[in-house]
Amino acid sequence: MQFNFSAARTVASGAWIVGAAEGVGLLPAAAKADKATGGAISRAMPSSQFTGKSGQVVVVLAPAGVAASRIIVMGLGKPGQFDAGAAETVAAVAVDKLKGSAETTLTFEIDAPRGAKVKGAALAAHLALGAKMKTYAFNQYRTKNLDEHESKLADITIMTGEAAAARRAWAPLEAVADGIFLARDLVNEPPNVLSPQEFARRARALSKTGLKVEVLGEAEMAKLGMNALLGVGQGSERESQLVVLKWNGSRKKDAAPVAFVGKGVCFDSGGLSLKPGTGMMGMKGDMGGAAAVIGTMRTLAVRKARVNAVGVIGLVENMPDGNAQRPDDVVKSMSGQTIEILNTDAEGRLVLADALWYAQTKFKPKLVVDLATLTGAILVALGQENAGLFSNDNGLARRLTDAGKAVGEPVWRLPLGPAYDKLLKSKIADMKNIGGQYAGSITAAQFLQRFVQEKTAWAHLDIAGVAWQDAEKKPLIPSWSTGWGVRLLDRLVADNYED
Ligand code: BES
Ligand code: MN
Ligand code: ZN
Repeated sequence: MQFNFSAARTVASGAWIVGAAEGVGLLPAAAKADKATGGAISRAMPSSQFTGKSGQVVVVLAPAGVAASRIIVMGLGKPGQFDAGAAETVAAVAVDKLKGSAETTLTFEIDAPRGAKVKGAALAAHLALGAKMKTYAFNQYRTKNLDEHESKLADITIMTGEAAAARRAWAPLEAVADGIFLARDLVNEPPNVLSPQEFARRARALSKTGLKVEVLGEAEMAKLGMNALLGVGQGSERESQLVVLKWNGSRKKDAAPVAFVGKGVCFDSGGLSLKPGTGMMGMKGDMGGAAAVIGTMRTLAVRKARVNAVGVIGLVENMPDGNAQRPDDVVKSMSGQTIEILNTDAEGRLVLADALWYAQTKFKPKLVVDLATLTGAILVALGQENAGLFSNDNGLARRLTDAGKAVGEPVWRLPLGPAYDKLLKSKIADMKNIGGQYAGSITAAQFLQRFVQEKTAWAHLDIAGVAWQDAEKKPLIPSWSTGWGVRLLDRLVADNYED
């Protein structure tokens, strides 16, 4: 897919997208199209009940008087509410309108209405982002009916009076989009293909972007004492892996990095505490945290972010076999603390316990954010609209909340506290790996906090509700996997930690 930015010129072929705003009517490009077609747009508006409200669309096919094969008029909504996010949605809806069509080229000529919150180069770049997000597809494993699933779009042009500036604004956004696509691909990939080692191979391939990539196997992790992580993988035929991604973009070479830690359970059967069949479906996505971390690291490298960052990803497959971890086992984590395993399906926290400890002791980061599809309970609490946020640092929690709001990946903070921590007391070890009947997401976060050093600013994002979508699809997310977290972490870095 090719994205071009150019000054306004006559559209020579394909779909031509113009805008109208609520209370304003046709914006200049739309008025121009209306005139060229002898009033076809203004004639089509009443019968479509089109007034420019956001979400409204009028399509005029094979219009006389212009070379474009169709004109699509997009409602931009109220000018004062038309911001970057609204522009992305408008572009995504326009691309969606071409689903099933034979169009190969698409030209946006969307004017910012007076009073809009986005205009010029930024408007052009965000239109491109919205369009690109909607073109995502995962058709790797289809051999039939590709026509139904594949867009024919090859060329998207955004007309703007600020083409050069738009190209500059697009470069970092394109890096974000590509990071999201990588995360989506990994989450969509079936678990027979995406083993821990295959995930690690795909991580290694990112060294071409300038990332330093290191992979630890089971022998190296055993030497480090990472028995909490290793215990989860011991019932699998596939070798567990720890992937470390480093990006050194800060002007201060030795600046302490920001660290992102991801849960990478390539398949979660539950282990001997086996999940029921319906609960197992979709558990290929239990590496959604790891996918967000690798997508973010790729984005930071490609856009050459002025930050030192490190990604640590614990990769395992949670399977039951004769060598599998048992409920009642006790393991010693890398931190030295012992854990009584009472449910082998509470495995994500075991993987993170060692990955968090490794990240802190090895890299002395200025902050750690972990992402994990950790608990079903977070879906009960927050549904698929917000990720759960837990933190020992109000500043970091605030910065994550703000970044989430800004990019449409909202997070909602939940409490931590000693009364919850008590629920992890074990009869024979330092802790058990499950709490009681209630507050399952909080006790999971309490467990993680036991592997966070006092001085470390830490946040945990429980993304079990947002890493994939079962319900109605969001405008910018055409696939099952969402790529959630890449945009949020990129924004967190861009707004707070670059020099
Ligand atoms: N990967 C699951 C959490 C999950 C559930 C993610 C549903 C997405 C959708 C996690 O490993 C898990 O199994 N958690 C258990 C914890 C329990 C055994 C304490 C859960 O949520 O039931
Ligand atoms: Mn589990
Ligand atoms: Zn899991």
